[in-house]
Amino acid sequence: MRPRCVISLVSSAYTHTRKINSYFKSSVLIFTTRNMSSATKLPKVFVTRKVPEDGIKYLRNKAEVTQWNSDDAIPRGELKERVRGVDGLFCLLTDKIDAEILDCAGPSLKAVSTMSVGYDHVDVGECNKRGIPVGFTPNVLTSATAELTVTLLLTVSRRIKEGIEAVKDGSWGTWKPLWLCGQGLDGATVGVIGLGRIGFAVAQRLKPFGVAKILYADAEEKEYANQLPAEYANLDQLLEESDFVLGCCALTEENVGLMNSSAFKKMKKTAIFINTSRGGLANQDDLYQALKSGEILGAGLDVTTPEPLPTDHPLLSLDNCVILPHIASATLKSRNAMSELCARNIIEALNGNSMPAEVK
Ligand code: DGY
Repeated sequence: MRPRCVISLVSSAYTHTRKINSYFKSSVLIFTTRNMSSATKLPKVFVTRKVPEDGIKYLRNKAEVTQWNSDDAIPRGELKERVRGVDGLFCLLTDKIDAEILDCAGPSLKAVSTMSVGYDHVDVGECNKRGIPVGFTPNVLTSATAELTVTLLLTVSRRIKEGIEAVKDGSWGTWKPLWLCGQGLDGATVGVIGLGRIGFAVAQRLKPFGVAKILYADAEEKEYANQLPAEYANLDQLLEESDFVLGCCALTEENVGLMNSSAFKKMKKTAIFINTSRGGLANQDDLYQALKSGEILGAGLDVTTPEPLPTDHPLLSLDNCVILPHIASATLKSRNAMSELCARNIIEALNGNSMPAEVK
């Protein structure tokens, strides 16, 4: 069994003296980095995973940090144990932060911050009821996520996966005029579900490909849509008219399963669905049927339910479906910035200030 790991870091701004301990304790590896000369009592922050260094660097000297030192998600039982008595919680989208976890943490908990722009895994209402602000990491991942959304769209629309496989498996014969023809963006209508920061950035990046029209569906009209320009539409109009339907919205109770069989039926047979928001936006059984029966042409998903998607999932048997492992924000620059912003949210809140990025 792989050892489960926790790292603790305690240090001070005034000295470089550090003592490092490491020992095995009931299959948990614990490292302590401690400044023995510091008398300052620092707030306790628990970090639920190995995260990019910039966040940890930021916390150093400002907090006593305990960290789940693994690339894998912390088991629920460990999380319940590790949050006891902490002042700040640095979590990820794989950690469900609900009343039970808040109860385990107890009254010391003054700040929760997730290293993600999505916060559907955090019970924000419950946190706020207890006076605990919730931080998240918008903006710093917008470019990376938009870039990956465009990548996924082009990969599906130009049938890149089938092309790569044909080169590898020898089915690439002579040049054929009718082989692997896809759909281009030139003259296309793009429909964005959720014209927030990421939806806007995706539309901006698609425009230079010669897109003729951008539609968007959202809870309300956005003034900044004029900059694209993008036209406000209801969901039915967007589904019926778009050549590309892009899921770029936050997941809420209202839009779980929004992309279901009725939605796919409204789409053009030549249209492509791309989802880089949350897997819950699409009903995957309905999506499979729509792709298999030719109701829509293709799909590209960076997010699924569950994650990881089991390797025998029917969607993985389809040539017209490209699935990526939730990597939209995965550039080093973006992930480091997310880590640092997540840490800053916690420290500012613990200092009695507003978080630089608080969920409202
Ligand atoms: C988020 O931040 O919510 C993304 O899904 C991962 O970067």
